[in-house]
Amino acid sequence: MNSIRRIAVNTGGGDAPGLNAVIRAIVLTAEQRGWEVYGVRDSYDGLFEEDGVQRLDRSSVRGITHLGGTILGTTNRGNPMRWPVEAEDGSVTYRDRTQEVVDAFAGLDIDAVIAIGGDGSLGIAHALAQKGLNVVGVPKTIDNDLAATQLTFGFTTAVETATDAIGKLHSTAESHERVMVVELMGRNAGWISLFAGVAGTADVILIPEIPYDIESVCAKVQDRYENGPEFAIVVVSEGAHPIDGEPVYQDTRAGQKRLGGVSRVLAEEIASRTGRETREMVLGHLQRGGGPNAYDRLLALRFGAAAVRMVAEGRFGTMVALDPPRVLAVPLEEAVAHIKTVPLDSDVVETARALGICLGD
Ligand code: F6P
Repeated sequence: MNSIRRIAVNTGGGDAPGLNAVIRAIVLTAEQRGWEVYGVRDSYDGLFEEDGVQRLDRSSVRGITHLGGTILGTTNRGNPMRWPVEAEDGSVTYRDRTQEVVDAFAGLDIDAVIAIGGDGSLGIAHALAQKGLNVVGVPKTIDNDLAATQLTFGFTTAVETATDAIGKLHSTAESHERVMVVELMGRNAGWISLFAGVAGTADVILIPEIPYDIESVCAKVQDRYENGPEFAIVVVSEGAHPIDGEPVYQDTRAGQKRLGGVSRVLAEEIASRTGRETREMVLGHLQRGGGPNAYDRLLALRFGAAAVRMVAEGRFGTMVALDPPRVLAVPLEEAVAHIKTVPLDSDVVETARALGICLGD
């Protein structure tokens, strides 16, 4: 069953706390099987660069479990399915380099690849698997928006960071009797905002899954000033949008639609409609920074060990997934078919409502 001798690992897309823990688990468990492990730098870019593929051994992964970021580097621009080629006149066209990636791994005598990434990177892994590459995916994203796994590593650490920020905003909001609008990441899924908003006792939480009515948001803010402590904390997910409105993008160049800026729009509306002094804050990449909490370390180590197990069992074209109490393999095709958004009947949504938190509807 096992003809594996050399495997490669890469990290793609936005970084997330726990990437280094996955890499460490892969290296240590693969070494136990007598395999060699190679790290590819910056997603697949390293395959086409000098020294872009390097041997990883026990000493390369010593003391990295608790570290943020990724020792392999990452990029959310190196998509081999849509590789940018710039012409002399500055115009950019795209070409498919997936076959070159498969050939490059073959040239390095790599028997299997473990690709750690979010939906974009796992979509690439799926395309490479269809071209014959032996690949196993590991689900990573602070957004927790990957279907087929109950959790992605990085999510609970991001929620902790965001909860801490919301907590700190309370004292300044209260001192100045202000409305503080805090914008959190998550793309088109409201997991981070919902979890951190409830844990951080926000007054309003706006998520993409529940288009908001600005009048209902302002009514909640006014109620705080009239009946409660005279300040309000509004958590808004970067992908949230009003009923009959669109999400706010900060950058739509080159076909990249980067969300961002909804807190400013919202803060201006709240200030002009309520007359309350309002400030906005975008927490941004702090949510991806720093080391993983204990839960994410453990999840990442479990995913790394499970990915090696799947490679040993020849279960290629799959992604490891948390299905408590087990970590199992699900087809990549299933994992990338759609993103996982917050179900409106989820208990956390119900809890928020029961606590009197306004969800914008
Ligand atoms: O997917 C993770 C994430 O942090 C999203 O929450 C956010 O929208 C995006 O990546 C930001 O990407 P970038 O690092 O390119 O700004």
